[in-house]
Amino acid sequence: MEKKRAQWSSKLGFILAAAGSAIGLGNIWKFPGRAYEGGGGSFLLIYLFIVVLLGIPLMLTELALGRASQTNIVNTFKKLGYKQHSWVGWIGVIGAFIITCYYSHVGGWVLRYVFSYAFEAPAIYRDSLGYFYNMLGLHADGTTSIPWTALFFAALFMLLNAVVIIRGVEGGIEKFNKFGMPALFLLLIILLVRSVTLPGAEAGVKYMLSLDLGKVTVNTFFSALGQAFYSLSIGMAILVTYGSYLSKSEDMIKNTAVVCGMDTLVAVLAGFIIVPAVFATLGSGEVGKGGGFAFVSLAGVFAEMPGGRIFGVLFYLLLLFAALTSCISLIESIVAFLTEEFGWTRKRTTIILCLILFLIGCLYTCSQAAIPLKGIWYDGVNGITHPALCDFMEYLTDRIMIPLCALGCCIFVGWVWKPESIIAEVEQSGFRFRLAKAYTVLIRFVAPAAILAILILSIFSGVTLS
Ligand code: PFF
Repeated sequence: MEKKRAQWSSKLGFILAAAGSAIGLGNIWKFPGRAYEGGGGSFLLIYLFIVVLLGIPLMLTELALGRASQTNIVNTFKKLGYKQHSWVGWIGVIGAFIITCYYSHVGGWVLRYVFSYAFEAPAIYRDSLGYFYNMLGLHADGTTSIPWTALFFAALFMLLNAVVIIRGVEGGIEKFNKFGMPALFLLLIILLVRSVTLPGAEAGVKYMLSLDLGKVTVNTFFSALGQAFYSLSIGMAILVTYGSYLSKSEDMIKNTAVVCGMDTLVAVLAGFIIVPAVFATLGSGEVGKGGGFAFVSLAGVFAEMPGGRIFGVLFYLLLLFAALTSCISLIESIVAFLTEEFGWTRKRTTIILCLILFLIGCLYTCSQAAIPLKGIWYDGVNGITHPALCDFMEYLTDRIMIPLCALGCCIFVGWVWKPESIIAEVEQSGFRFRLAKAYTVLIRFVAPAAILAILILSIFSGVTLS
């Protein structure tokens, strides 16, 4: 007899799990840096446009695909009778695998910062950039060393993931989300007020509201598209897997809009906290890498707040849980695939997988400074280049694999399985899909054309790799 498939225990359970997957490091660690590099307000506008036009329909598509097929993303295509399209699922699973390798390590840095604020906040206040680089193995005198502390905390973070996944996601994580997510919102609003009122922050707020179209290039679109998909957890194995646990009586459109709205709100809030803080504390020119924003520039905000140290611990704790719920969703989708496809046990699969992910992730952390590991990249302007392995991993997933998987889903749904099938799935249990016509045009023409154009243009116009 076939085993009954797991289901979310309630509507809230699903929304929290999907929002938990979406809201994560992408919103707070990646988004502000990208927004800053992309010209502030202009990036924001393009980002919002992409979320509405592509993000919401694509999230809906993936969830409906999962709910219709009741299985993981690779098997989805086979189950619907189109085995030859399984490559889309493979790209999703491999993408999720690579992302988890580095995501778990950045999660480890967050865990490190919980302790840093608890025990050595003055050291961060003294030189926040130096402290961050030091953690990654780059020292003030220019020497480098293996970043043992960062590796240790990454191992700890991975252990936390493994424990939760082995025990089952529902109990602890769902319950924590119920107050963790509102608490994160509240804290972000407190930090927003502190950040924008810092002396010198005004220029940052202006920058985030400026519409300088001269700064918009193909790269801005590319970066915003990759960021939106990444942030919404689109173009990977997750949403199909999560959709497969969704009850047939759910209003999918409403759920999708709520999750996308919450995710975007957190990202925008983070942008308006961190970018003004960068202007106020470090000066606009000083931070080389966007990735360091969440770790470096906030120090200036905490230093200037009464009880800043406690807020620091609290902030990184909440970021830790946001990272944990996202990382769990990533690992869960790979575990779902491996256990369902190969019949492996959940516990053994999780332990072995987490170990492998952690070890590959060590290359990510070490290539930040300690070991000059390189990837390989090609674009029409710069030709073949060799970016640092850590950047290469992020570019490969955010800029190639995620859009490609999303493109595959659009083509499959738009032209092979047909939009009517998605519409029928959404309209189960009596819900009406009012925008069905617009959806059909979008999924058949607009979305694939936009993704394809951005992918191709980026190769010819060249993307800036750090
Ligand atoms: N959406 C998560 C974030 O913004 O941090 C990261 C993520 C989770 C990406 C799950 C992809 C994914 F499938």
